[in-house]
Formats: sequence, C-alpha cells, structure tokens
Amino acid sequence: MHDAMKPAPWNEAPRAGGKASFYRDLAEELDALLSGESDSIANAANAAAAIFHSLPRLNWAGFYFLRDDTLVLGPFQGRPACVRIKLGAGVCGAAARDRRSILVPDVEAFPGHIACDSASRSELVVPLLRDGVVLGVLDLDSPDLARFDAEDQAGCEALAAIVVRHLARSVLF
Ligand code: SME
Repeated sequence: MHDAMKPAPWNEAPRAGGKASFYRDLAEELDALLSGESDSIANAANAAAAIFHSLPRLNWAGFYFLRDDTLVLGPFQGRPACVRIKLGAGVCGAAARDRRSILVPDVEAFPGHIACDSASRSELVVPLLRDGVVLGVLDLDSPDLARFDAEDQAGCEALAAIVVRHLARSVLF
C-alpha cells in the first residue's frame, strides 16, 4: 500500500545509492501508487506524473497506446505532443513495431525521429507488452544529450511492466 507519510521518489531530493536502487524504490512506490485502482487512464496519468517528477532532466514523459496500426497519445507530462504516430514511424513507432526498448543518445542521429518538442535531445522508448502483445509505449525525452544509459533502460522496462499490470484490457484496449 502507498504510505502517504513516507517520502516517495517523486517528492524526494536526489539520494545516494545508485541508479539500480533508485529504480527499485521507484518501482515499489509506483506499484503501490497504482494498486487498488482499476481505471487505466487514472493509472497511466499517475504513472506519467510519478516518472516525470522522479527522474531528473526530463522534458517529457508519457504514454502512447496502440489502436489498430497507430499509436495514439495517452496521459503524459510535458509540452503538448504529436497525437498520432504510425506503427514503425519515429522512435515510438519503431519500439512498438519491434517490441523492444530503444535508447537514443542523440535524437538528431535517429533517422525518422519525430520532433514533438524541439528541446528534446535524447530519448528512451519502452514498449508496453502483455503476453507478447504491444499495448503501447512509455516515452521519455530529455533536453540533455545521452541522458539515458543501460541502467535507465532496464529500470524503465521494469516500470513499464508494472504499469501494464495496472492497465485493464477491457477499458482501454
Ligand atoms: N520523439 C518521438 C515522438 C513522441 S514525442 O517525443 C513525445 C518519436 O520519434 O517517436
């Protein structure tokens, strides 16, 4: 259960302990935050806010959900973004098509990158997978070059798996 008296990662100042322990704590808090609520939009919205306010140096964090062959914008934090992305287009479409996370250290070097916010310099996109089926993607953008590394990738894959567990198939998909 989420304990409102205990500081959560999205309320705390950066701590020592390294990224792996940071992501472990965040995963635990995220799971607790989403537990007990069955509304997919509410859970995706709270997940986007928790991630955006926990990870430093982000300018955008949020979700796209796959409808037919198009990713459609879901709950997010950051500037208004492109609403529809075709499967295979941009970083998000490539991650959804290939069902794997994609780490982009320099968005200008990624062919077909879709620039929603001109401030974005690096990006991490993680597919939301349930039983091998793509439900959508979690997209993180940073104004810094090479903001994300392999530990962020592994940490965000774990966060995405938690979000998937709190999305009801019948509501959104
Ligand atoms: N840059 C993404 C588009 C989504 S925005 O970054 C929010 C892409 O290339 O798919």
